[in-house]
Amino acid sequence: MTVPSDSEKKSPFSTSLRTHLAGSLRASDAGASVRLGGWVHRSRNLGGIVFIDLRDREGIVQVSFGTAWASAEMIARAAAVGVESVVMIEGAVAVRTPEQRNSEMATGEIEIHATSITVVGPAVTPAIPVARGKGEKLPSEELRLRHRYLDLRRPELQHSLMQRHRLMQVTRSYLSARGFLELETPILTKPTPEGARDYLVPSRVHPGEFYALPQSPQIYKQLFMVSGFDRYFQIARCFRDEDLRADRQPEFTQIDIEASFVQSDDILALAEGLIGAIWREAGHEIPEHFERMTYQAAMERYGCDRPDLRYALEIADYSTVFRGLDFGITQSALAAGGRVRGILIPGAAAWSRKQVDELEVIAKGAGALGLLRLKKADGKYDGPVAKFLTPEAETTLGLEDGVLALFVAGDDRITSSALDRIRQECAARLGLLDERAERFLIVTDFPMFDRDPVSGALAPVHHPFTAPNPQDVAALPNEPHLWRALAYDVVLNGLELGGGSIRTHDTAMQSKVFGLIGIGDADEQERRFGFLLEGLRAGAPPHGGIAFGVDRLAMLLAGATSLRDVIAFPKTTAARALFEGAPTQVSPEEMSALHIRPEGA
Ligand code: AMO
Repeated sequence: MTVPSDSEKKSPFSTSLRTHLAGSLRASDAGASVRLGGWVHRSRNLGGIVFIDLRDREGIVQVSFGTAWASAEMIARAAAVGVESVVMIEGAVAVRTPEQRNSEMATGEIEIHATSITVVGPAVTPAIPVARGKGEKLPSEELRLRHRYLDLRRPELQHSLMQRHRLMQVTRSYLSARGFLELETPILTKPTPEGARDYLVPSRVHPGEFYALPQSPQIYKQLFMVSGFDRYFQIARCFRDEDLRADRQPEFTQIDIEASFVQSDDILALAEGLIGAIWREAGHEIPEHFERMTYQAAMERYGCDRPDLRYALEIADYSTVFRGLDFGITQSALAAGGRVRGILIPGAAAWSRKQVDELEVIAKGAGALGLLRLKKADGKYDGPVAKFLTPEAETTLGLEDGVLALFVAGDDRITSSALDRIRQECAARLGLLDERAERFLIVTDFPMFDRDPVSGALAPVHHPFTAPNPQDVAALPNEPHLWRALAYDVVLNGLELGGGSIRTHDTAMQSKVFGLIGIGDADEQERRFGFLLEGLRAGAPPHGGIAFGVDRLAMLLAGATSLRDVIAFPKTTAARALFEGAPTQVSPEEMSALHIRPEGA
C-alpha cells in the first residue's frame, strides 16, 4: 500500500495509512480515491459481488467488490474475511443508484467500489455480536461487561463516550473562561468524610498505616481557597465504598468546583450556566434559570429532597380530615403526634385490589404500617374508611369520581418516604414519565444535621464543612438540630446531579460543628482534620462550591438508565470489574509485604 498524497489528505483523521474515516464519507466525496481502515461489521456474498459494511467510530460505509472494478483474487479475499476483523481497503467513492440508496444510513447515498483489501487485524469469532438486526436484543449485561472491548464497539456506546468527551471539553472551556483554574489533588490521601466508607490502601513502608482514596477532593479544594487560588475546578475521580445502584458506582467522576468571596447564589448562577452550556452543546434547549424549592417544601409536597417534577401527584396533609373521623388507626397515629398524608390518583379507582396491594407492599417496605385506600367510583366511596366518612370530610376531601386516594399515617419520616415511593410507582404505572421532558430544580435550605430518632445523635446532612445558616445559629443557639445549612442540590427529573454548600471558614464554628457531630475532643479534631483547621487558622476567605457527577450528567444526556452505559469500564452492582477481573486475591507474600495477615492467620 502506498502513502496517500497530500491532496488525498482531506480529513483531519487522515494518516499515513488512510485518507478518511469510513463513516464520514458523503455524496460530496463522489469520485475520490480513498483508503479506509476499519472493522467488518457485516458481509454478504451475492456471488460475483461481495459487500462489506465497514465500520469505524464515525459510522458505517458499504464497500462493494464487483467484477467490474475488483480482481477475482480480491473478491475471493473479501468473501473470506471474518466479521470484526480489521481491514484496510482501497477504492473509489461511487454514488449509489436511486434504488440502491439507503436513507437510514448517513453514508447511504454512496458506496465504495473497492479494488483492494488487506486483513491487518484478523478477529476470532466474537464472543458477543457487535452488529444487531432491528429489534434484536442485546446479550446479557454480564456477558457484555465481560467482553467490554467488543461491547464498546457498539455505535450506542461509541456515541455516549464521545458525548462524555464533549461534556468535559465544554466544562473545561466554560470554567476556564470564567477564571477557574484546573488544579489536581492527591489520590493517596487521608479520609474525607462524605458519608460512605473509605477505600483504604495499605502502606508498605509504614507498617499498619493506610492511605484513603478520596471520597471527594473537598478538603483540598478548600485549602486551595485558603492558599488564594480564588477559583478552582477539577474533573476528579472519587471513590466511595457504598451500596451500589444503577446511579451509583464505587469509582466515579465529579466536576468539582470551589470559589472564594461567594454566597450560595453566586455558585448556583455558575451551576445554571455550566449545566446550560453542557446541555445546549448536546442540542437540548433548557431554561436559563432553574426552578427553586426549599428542602422543607420538597419534603412536604413530594416526600423527597430530589423530586421528579415531570408529574404532579403531590402529597397533601389530610390530618384535619382524619381528626374528625372515628377511625382507630389514624386516630392513634395522630394522637402519637404523627400526621395523615396522602396522594390523590386520578383514574386509579379502576385499579384492581391486587394492584393496590402491591402499592401497600411498597409503602410497608418504606416503613409504613399500612396504606389506607379510599376510592370514589360512580359516586360511591369504597375502602376501610368509607363508612366513617362524614359529610364535612367528604367536602374537604373533594374526591372526583375515578380517584383513588392513598393515605399513610405516622411521623413525617415514614409518611414522606412511603408516599415518595408510592408517587414514583403510580407515575410509572400511569405513564407520566415523559422521557423528553427535562425538569431542572435547585433545592436549597437543607437541614444542617440529621438527628438519629433513637439516640438523638447528630450527623451532617451534607458534610461537616458546610456552614450553618447564621440566622438559625443566632436564633436557636441551643437547638442545632433545627439549623438549616447553606447547602443546595441541583436535581433533574428526580436524580441528584450535583450538590454543594457555602463552607464554614471560621475555625471556632468548624470546631463547634465537629463537636456537635460527636468529635468534641480537640486532639481528635486535630488528628482527623488538623490539616483543614490549620489552614482555616491561617486566614481563610469566605468560600463555597459544588460538585456535579459527570457520570450522571452523561447518563441523562445520553438518555441512558444506568451509569454503566456511559462509563468505559464500569463496575457491576457487586462492585466487580468483570472484564479486568478485579478485585483479585493476592499472594500471601504480597500481603505480608503490606503487613497484612490473611484472615484467620
Ligand atoms: P456529593 O457527595 O453530593 O458532594 O457528591 C456530588 C455529586 O457526585 C455524584 N455522586 C456519585 N456519582 C456516581 N456514583 C456515586 N457513588 C456518587 N456519589 C456522588 C452525584 C452528586 O450529586 N464534596 C461535595 C461537593 C461540595 O460540597 O462541593 C460532594 O462530594 O451527582
